[in-house]
Amino acid sequence: MSMLKIFVGTMYGGALDVAEQVKPLFEEAGHEVAILENPSLADLTAADTDLALFCVSTTGSGDYPGGFAPFANAIAEQSPGLAALRYGLIALGDSSYGETFCGAGRQLDDLLAGQGALRLGERLEVDAMETFMADDAAIPWVEEWIDSQQLKVA
Ligand SMILES: Cc1cc2nc3c(=O)[nH]c(=O)nc-3n(C[C@H](O)[C@H](O)[C@H](O)COP(=O)(O)O)c2cc1C
Repeated sequence: MSMLKIFVGTMYGGALDVAEQVKPLFEEAGHEVAILENPSLADLTAADTDLALFCVSTTGSGDYPGGFAPFANAIAEQSPGLAALRYGLIALGDSSYGETFCGAGRQLDDLLAGQGALRLGERLEVDAMETFMADDAAIPWVEEWIDSQQLKVA
């Protein structure tokens, strides 16, 4: 069965909630889904990781959430090469932070692209100023993502 890993970076649980809410959509599309909080580089470089969704919020001044930072730093430092990886990215942020809006998601996107990974579709940026519950934006986005990227395997 096709495996989809959802890599989560969160402080207050919003990004994890998004991962949990969209999980059934991927299951209905025929994927086995694993949600990874505090992921390790090995989770990403494992042979069964060819399709991934990243749900990542931003803290500090455009920084990765604490539990996610070692993972992102490991990608940057160890430069594993991710040419086999296709991914989608949902960034959570708050536009009242100005220039650092969705900074972690944007940094991660650059980092993955720099390793040769291929983003499928556009990045979703969820603005807490506009969307109280991030799921409200994420669920329709994932439905459309599965459809437009032909990710249905069942
Ligand atoms: C201390 C703190 C710093 C933040 N810094 C940023 C930031 O630099 N850029 C941004 O877009 N959002 C920032 N945010 C907003 C969060 O990313 C946003 O509320 C997000 O929905 C939280 O998701 P979570 O529940 O998964 O942690 C910050 C929030 C807090 C509490």
